[in-house]
Amino acid sequence: MKVLLTRRIPSSVFSRLQAVGDVDLYEGPSAISADELKRRLADKQALISVLTDRVTPELLDAAPNLRIVSNIAVGYENIDVAAAKARGVIVTNTPDVLTEAVAEFTWALILAAARRVAEGDRLIRRHGWKGWALDFMLGTELRGKQLGIVGSGRIGRAVAAKAPAFGMTAVFGQRTALDQLLVTSDVISLHVPGGPETRHLIDRKTFARMKRSAIFVNTARGSVVDEEALIWALQERLIAAAALDVFENEPHVREELMTMENVVLAPHLGSATRETRTAMIDLAVSNVLAVAAGNSPITPV
Ligand code: DGY
Repeated sequence: MKVLLTRRIPSSVFSRLQAVGDVDLYEGPSAISADELKRRLADKQALISVLTDRVTPELLDAAPNLRIVSNIAVGYENIDVAAAKARGVIVTNTPDVLTEAVAEFTWALILAAARRVAEGDRLIRRHGWKGWALDFMLGTELRGKQLGIVGSGRIGRAVAAKAPAFGMTAVFGQRTALDQLLVTSDVISLHVPGGPETRHLIDRKTFARMKRSAIFVNTARGSVVDEEALIWALQERLIAAAALDVFENEPHVREELMTMENVVLAPHLGSATRETRTAMIDLAVSNVLAVAAGNSPITPV
């Protein structure tokens, strides 16, 4: 099988792939360009992609031998799945293996926003700390508060499972129960997939429903939130703080978000642990190997 790999992967996993295929590895310093992707994919049967690689109908048409697109991510809105299906191309993702890493990171952001961790770090680094005081940099305690989880998939449930450790009660809601969740939650965390169905699910109207003391957290996808509306809600003090790992137009982050002290920013790190990234890559390769051997993929979309 001729395989195109758009990023370097650990050598142990790479050799598993090489054992069954002829691997074309893109080694550029940043994401492969659309033109280069199209050129290299033309004679391939498998593509191992990451979320910055856009798999469009045009790209698929330019790769007539393609049998599988194996995305190293649980999200797959970078891939036109319907177009792939129409052309008989299998699409796979990497669910489960990253659930705990993303749930842990969500808690890191919740805690950072509630206890002003990043803000305090910035203060010290600019030599702004004048000393301990009773009323200095007070945050919000999580104990006794409600965590509203938008989306009840694996990651949302894993985040909820850790809520009792902090004395929080978790509630779920997406479409029907969303309004109640918005009005009553102290922390609101998004755990829905990206794509057209959830685009701007969180907009001016939804922010206006939240508590003024609410902490808003997004480790899902930037497209789920209308970023203009988020900036408006923060500037108008309709919510207290935000912690964001994903953005509408990555890697671009709006200047307004960068200048607000009550916003914690992370560069899409949800699944970024050594253990999890290795497991994701391993699963993506296993999907290709399964299809190469004539078997069903392990985790088809
Ligand atoms: C995913 O798997 O969708 C993550 O966002 C990548 O880290």
